[in-house]
Formats: sequence, C-alpha cells, structure tokens
Amino acid sequence: MKELIEQLKLEHDLCDDALTAIIERDEQDEPLFSAADEVRRANYSTDVYLRGLIEFTNVCKNNCYYCGIRCGNKKEARYRLTPEEILESCESGYNMGFRTFVLQGGEDPRCTDDLICTLVDTIKTRYPDCAVTLSIGEKPRSSYQAYFDAGADRYLLRHETASEAHYRKLHPPELSLKNRKRCLYDLKDIGFQVGAGFMVGSPGQTTRELIADLRFLQQLQPDMIGIGPFIPHHDTPFAHEKAGTLKLTLRMLSILRLMFPYVLLPATTALGTISPIGRELGLKAGANVMMPNLTPRRVRQYYDLYDNKICMDEEAAKCRACQEGRVRAAGYRIVCDRGDVRRPVKPEKREQ
Ligand code: 5AD
Ligand code: FES
Repeated sequence: MKELIEQLKLEHDLCDDALTAIIERDEQDEPLFSAADEVRRANYSTDVYLRGLIEFTNVCKNNCYYCGIRCGNKKEARYRLTPEEILESCESGYNMGFRTFVLQGGEDPRCTDDLICTLVDTIKTRYPDCAVTLSIGEKPRSSYQAYFDAGADRYLLRHETASEAHYRKLHPPELSLKNRKRCLYDLKDIGFQVGAGFMVGSPGQTTRELIADLRFLQQLQPDMIGIGPFIPHHDTPFAHEKAGTLKLTLRMLSILRLMFPYVLLPATTALGTISPIGRELGLKAGANVMMPNLTPRRVRQYYDLYDNKICMDEEAAKCRACQEGRVRAAGYRIVCDRGDVRRPVKPEKREQ
C-alpha cells in the first residue's frame, strides 16, 4: 500500500485496480493523509483561503432527489435576497478580510442574467481586489459568457457523479449528465476558473462510480474540486438513505490532492456537519480552502440542502472567527487574498 501511495504522489495517477485498492483499503489512513499534506505544503505551504459564501436564493426549478431545496419540497419556505442585501453581505465580508465572494443559489427563474451581471459588475467595481465566484447552476453558454464579460472570475458546478447510470438514480429525467458536462466545458472554454465535484456516499455510489468521478476530473482538469459527504434531508426521496462517511470523504480528499496537486480543495460545510472536527481533519487530509457563511442570519436556516447543517445560527463574524481558530489549531494559517489557483507554469515552446 505504501508503494501505491508513493506512486500516486509522484505520478498523479494509478490504474483502476490500484485506485480501488486505496479507496477500499482496510488500513490506517495516516500515511495517505501525510502524503497528501506533503503535496499541499509543497504547492500552497500552510495557506488556507477563505471564500465568503452568500446563499442568495433558495428558489430552485430543479428536483434533484438528494437536495432539500428541490422544487418538490413544498414545505420549504422560499427566500430571495435583494441586491442591496447581497451587497451588504459583501461589505461586511470585505471588512472581515474576505477577498472572494461566492454567490450561490438554486436555479431561480426570476434571477435573470441582467440581474446577475449588474450584481457582478457592482461588486467588482466596489472591490476590484476581490474575486467573484458564481454557483447558480446550468445555463446556456451565452449566459455564462455574459457573466464572464461582467467580470465574474470563477464558477462552481459540481458534476455530482460522472456515471450515467448513477446520475439517473440521483436526478429526475429532465436533467442530464450530458448537459452538466457541456456546462463545465463551456465555462472552461470561456475562461472561468472552474470547480466541479461530487458527493461522497450518495445512494447507489460504489468504488466504481468514485473512479468514474476521478477519471472525469482528469479529463476536465478543473481549478477547484468540491466534495463532501451526502447527508439525507428529511423532506426528500432520500430521507431514509445513509449518509456518506467521514472516513471515505477524507480518503477521497487525500486522493484528490495527490492526483491534482494544484487544485483548490475546500473542507466543506457538509464535512463539518458529519463530524465536529470534520473540516480540521479535511485540512490535514489535503484541503486548502474554507467557506464561512456570509448569508444574512434571517434566511440562513432556509438554505438547508441537508439536515443538521452547521453554522445556521452563527453571525458571519462569529463564523469567521470560529474558522480562524479551527484553521490555526489544525496547524495552518488563513491568508487574506483572492487565493487563485497556482497551476504550474507550462514550459514555453522553444522557437524552432
Ligand atoms: N447532502 C450533501 N450535499 C448535498 N448537496 C446537495 N444536496 C446535498 C445533500 N443532501 C451538494 C451538491 C450541490 C452542492 C451545492 O451541495 O453536491 O452541488
Ligand atoms: Fe461557522 Fe464555526 S465555522 S460557527
């Protein structure tokens, strides 16, 4: 096993059988974590980047079986922040030291391209030293282009699963993996820093699906990879399914760090939800990003993608301070800058 980890660290790839052996191993994970930590330190030192997360609408036209804000959940109280409220969140976030704002929401039909573009433009004009990340789902290429032209820097769109059959088990018929992938390639082509990702332990997922996810990520070569355990939500068709485990999520984080040394890898809220020290362990397993919640407290409880989500009652400043302490206790340090991806510089082509 040690040799396999070493090989993964040096070559950033292994055959399916070897990856299966690492994913399904029945041994202590410390050697895997420390190999991943070594690689993260070589690329990012002990730096941890913060992203201020603003969940600005929980209205969603989609009906994904796993998600608490799916349109089929009629019990959910719906909200949509006004542009003024969003800008206020940015202002308090800026004063707390955030230099990236992530605007995340459901696929809200009232949230027009014009609205998004005006918002992005305003934020970028007010805070030229900040990056704006959008996470608002599947759109036509022309919309993505408009957001980019308005100044958006990054886009998060988890692929959720790269297996066609598994995708069908998690989503209603009107959604397709093909369109999801089309979106990701369009975003990349337009020039966004792109984040993909998947849930660990979603219903029906086996090692085979996880390997399909890794292979897809190798093709896409994203700048960011967001993963977290699947956690059931009581008002969804998956209410009684089992949650993903801490162990497997940490293992996947380390494997991702070894396969994608330069990637921005968050220790997610879902990881902090399944274990009180989940995010700290995530950092030690190779993660280098944290996303404190900047959403106004009044509406925060309604952005419940899954049950028992943490930080629901915390003031943004408290959440920020709490994360600072956690990062430091884990042996890393928060850095107040945009935190762009550090890809290796490609050797320049020599003139013939
Ligand atoms: N458990 C864990 N993660 C979830 N997400 C949505 N629903 C759940 C759930 N029940 C994740 C999806 C989505 C991201 C915003 O949150 O991967 O892309
Ligand atoms: Fe939000 Fe600790 S990170 S309260």
